[in-house]
Amino acid sequence: MSEVRHWHRDLGTPPSAAPQLLTLSIDGMAITAPAGTSVMRAALGAGIGIPKLCATDSLAPFGSCRVCLVEIDGRKGMPASCTTPIEAGMVVRTQTESLARVRKGVLELYISDHPLDCLTCAANGDCELQDVAGEVGLREVRYGTSGANHIEQPKDPSNPYFVFDPSKCIVCSRCVRACDEVQGTFALTVVGRGFDSAIAASAGDAFIDSECVSCGACVQACPTATLIEKTVLDHGQPDRVVKTTCAYCGVGCSLQAELKGDQLIRMEPDPDGGANHGHACVKGRFAWGYTTHPDRVLTPLVRERIDQPWRPASWDAAIAFAAERFRAIRDRYGRHALGGISSSRCTNEEVFVVQKMVRAAFGNNNIDNCARVCHSPTGYGLKQTFGTSAGTQDFASVDAADVIVVIGANPTDAHPVFASRLKRRLREGADLIVVDPRRIDLVRSAHVEARHHLQLQPGTNVALINALAHVVVTEGLVDENFVAARCERESFERWRAFIAEPEHAPEAVEHHTSVPAAQLRSAARLYATARNATIYYGLGVTEHSQGSTMVMGLANLAMATGHIGRDGVGVNPLRGQNNVQGACDMGSFPHEFAGYRHVSDPMVRGMFETRWEVPLDAEPGLRIPNMFAAALAGSFRGLFVQGEDVAQSDPNTRHVADALRALDCLVVQDLFLNETAAFAHVFLPGESFLEKDGTYTNAERRINRVRPVMAPHAGLTEWETVCRFATAMGYPMHYNNAAEIMDEIAALTPTFAGVSFAKLDREGGMQWPVTGPESHGTRILHEDAFVRGKGRFMLTRYVPTEERTNRRYPLILTTGRILSQYNVGTQTRRTANIAWHEHDLLEMHPHDAETRGIADGDAVLLASRKGSTTLPAHVTDRVPVGVVYTTFHHPGTAANVVTTEHSDWATNCPEYKVTAVEVQPTGMRSSRNDDA
Ligand code: SF4
Ligand code: SF4
Ligand code: SF4
Ligand code: FES
Repeated sequence: MSEVRHWHRDLGTPPSAAPQLLTLSIDGMAITAPAGTSVMRAALGAGIGIPKLCATDSLAPFGSCRVCLVEIDGRKGMPASCTTPIEAGMVVRTQTESLARVRKGVLELYISDHPLDCLTCAANGDCELQDVAGEVGLREVRYGTSGANHIEQPKDPSNPYFVFDPSKCIVCSRCVRACDEVQGTFALTVVGRGFDSAIAASAGDAFIDSECVSCGACVQACPTATLIEKTVLDHGQPDRVVKTTCAYCGVGCSLQAELKGDQLIRMEPDPDGGANHGHACVKGRFAWGYTTHPDRVLTPLVRERIDQPWRPASWDAAIAFAAERFRAIRDRYGRHALGGISSSRCTNEEVFVVQKMVRAAFGNNNIDNCARVCHSPTGYGLKQTFGTSAGTQDFASVDAADVIVVIGANPTDAHPVFASRLKRRLREGADLIVVDPRRIDLVRSAHVEARHHLQLQPGTNVALINALAHVVVTEGLVDENFVAARCERESFERWRAFIAEPEHAPEAVEHHTSVPAAQLRSAARLYATARNATIYYGLGVTEHSQGSTMVMGLANLAMATGHIGRDGVGVNPLRGQNNVQGACDMGSFPHEFAGYRHVSDPMVRGMFETRWEVPLDAEPGLRIPNMFAAALAGSFRGLFVQGEDVAQSDPNTRHVADALRALDCLVVQDLFLNETAAFAHVFLPGESFLEKDGTYTNAERRINRVRPVMAPHAGLTEWETVCRFATAMGYPMHYNNAAEIMDEIAALTPTFAGVSFAKLDREGGMQWPVTGPESHGTRILHEDAFVRGKGRFMLTRYVPTEERTNRRYPLILTTGRILSQYNVGTQTRRTANIAWHEHDLLEMHPHDAETRGIADGDAVLLASRKGSTTLPAHVTDRVPVGVVYTTFHHPGTAANVVTTEHSDWATNCPEYKVTAVEVQPTGMRSSRNDDA
């Protein structure tokens, strides 16, 4: 039995949370367990072995394999222990001669239809059928293996990551149930009956052509080698485990990296992971091959000018080169000519040292991070209303929601593991309201249908949220008790009068939003009158010229209806990148120290000055767009960019490129020579998440450990590199390990005061605030009072974006992600995920396509006032007339060439979601239309 696979002890059926405890006797041992526990779980939990095949504790019991039979006093026959709940006083026997005989007989039947190639099977040592055969003492098969069987069935290797070998299938349905219950995709079925029963993906398609989304839950659930990872086939079984955290999205799934020596064999989701409870998606589970991709640059590179070829250099030489240039800029142009951009993909510790370097070694506050282009409005909006910049709930809270609003987010693609949980709640009966210009999968998919899809025009969010609030206020749906007890009276009354104005009525805004007034009223009533209603939102809320206004609008609505401060409610940003929350928490902003405290606050600044032994600037520094503008103006000359491809991910790519080109020295730290590195003078190799030691903070504020699975490929960790650079700039920075950086963060940041690596290793991930050694974190914010005391209502007047359509640019472009790719694709394009999305596509409505003579798969020119690009068209009614949509995963498409410089009024977050465009046929069929 492999030590790795059974790192988690599988007790056969899920635990029961019932408060009542019952005592029974199993094999003469008195055992007490919660009511609702299965006999199997009670026995296995007490160390009494019962064989099992179709049962596993991540799935509801099914009772099909009949190997787990037991005898129970007073019951006829031999009930299956997995489907039999315990009762008080029950007397159970698990080991009798008759049970042994029956179990052996059942196993004989399975084995007689199974290839007897255990010695050469990739699952040898990790196969539950093999284990159970041993457990029941099966030594011979009386029926032989020459009768009718399935042994010659062909394999399906079509999935890039796993193989389906039906000859080994015992039709236990674990895969089918995992796909239904855990993932919620319903891609698998048992077809045929009796001997002809078989597992089929969709309607008998190859896996790659089926509805399967490659989450791997079925592979994990399969007790045999029928569904097995290709890496296990290639390299054999793993023999050790390192627990870590996924580095893709803000769900922050806990993973177990399973290795054989230094070879990573597979990534299994951690059943104890607070964010994911044993589930993962195609990215976290499978798409880690980029970490060893040959494109990785493992040697520092330098060059005098960006038109010269790179020269390899030692770490010391590269850092000295960069520091000398930065010092020269500082001497000539002053300390404000330098700055840094850190990354929401890096650990808290890495981000912290970068902002410290900028403040203490460069001597200014010119530090920003990529949250600027995604969730900075969340920071502003939630701080103004609630008092802190963070999601209010943990993911588990959705289990208690009765109405779920998903607005400007596409969880099945961008936050898949949370989406699976959300869909489970919907299958249990919760109602769903989707607010999105595009018909995302959640609107209708297997066993899920939104009660309302408010298909608004891009750019009209604030008009819509005001109309929802108008219905609440004018139809008497305000939770007056909550508002009176928990919110500022004056701000509420002002807001109530404002929002009751007729201009906010659903009928009045219909011409802006295109959402039928009656439907909007109905959705508002559903949200307001629910026992528990909750809001989840994404970049479709923030990346607008009124992103901050919209976040405040969401907060106003939640406060007015009392849907805040307990389980099942709240306002929750679904963070795009793994550590957006953490990068913001760590003070990676030009105006705030760690813990969202303004740089002008003398008390806070004094604390940092004392600890860092250096005077700090009291003036906020430059935001990313201001850095680019200052670079073009000549006052900003040296930039350090950590793990961020601004040349591809920031709006109006040409403007960004011109700014980068204008710098005297650009230092890029990354895994690959990305688009930004084309403008760099120094390239410092970075680490993949498999090499990092530190923490990420997910969308629920959960601080999770990231542990090194392998040594840094380039020989130096990212935080060490930054410390050496700061030291070379004249400000000595030194830590012995990443844990010491967290100790400094904890000492300087009240919400992290009780966090240390040792505590996280002992207790698992914790949600901040973790206020001291006794604190284990905080599941739900604002329970008794808002962080700012009383909740504050903010006025949210709708101001249409300046980005207007006209005859020349009559369509609105909006952007998003798909499941298999991640952001600008730097990582996922270097994995087998490329099988699903080789190119970005432009979705357009059949009407818009037809009027322009465009057919599905045609290459089209997408042009805005800022630029143009070419990509294949995908004609679909997922988008409404007048709206086109694309992803931005491929540099070849350069979708950001067309996006504009419009940005959120409060935070400068770019308005990625609204660009006026025209689309024209190029007269060519796309050579890339195979996936169109
Ligand atoms: S593929 Fe695996 S999990 Fe699915 S029915 Fe066959 S043996 Fe069971
Ligand atoms: S990989 Fe996931 S989606 Fe695909 S069949 Fe298995 S469980 Fe279902
Ligand atoms: S849901 Fe997000 S964090 Fe979880 S495995 Fe997928 S990409 Fe990673
Ligand atoms: S494990 Fe109980 S019937 Fe299969």
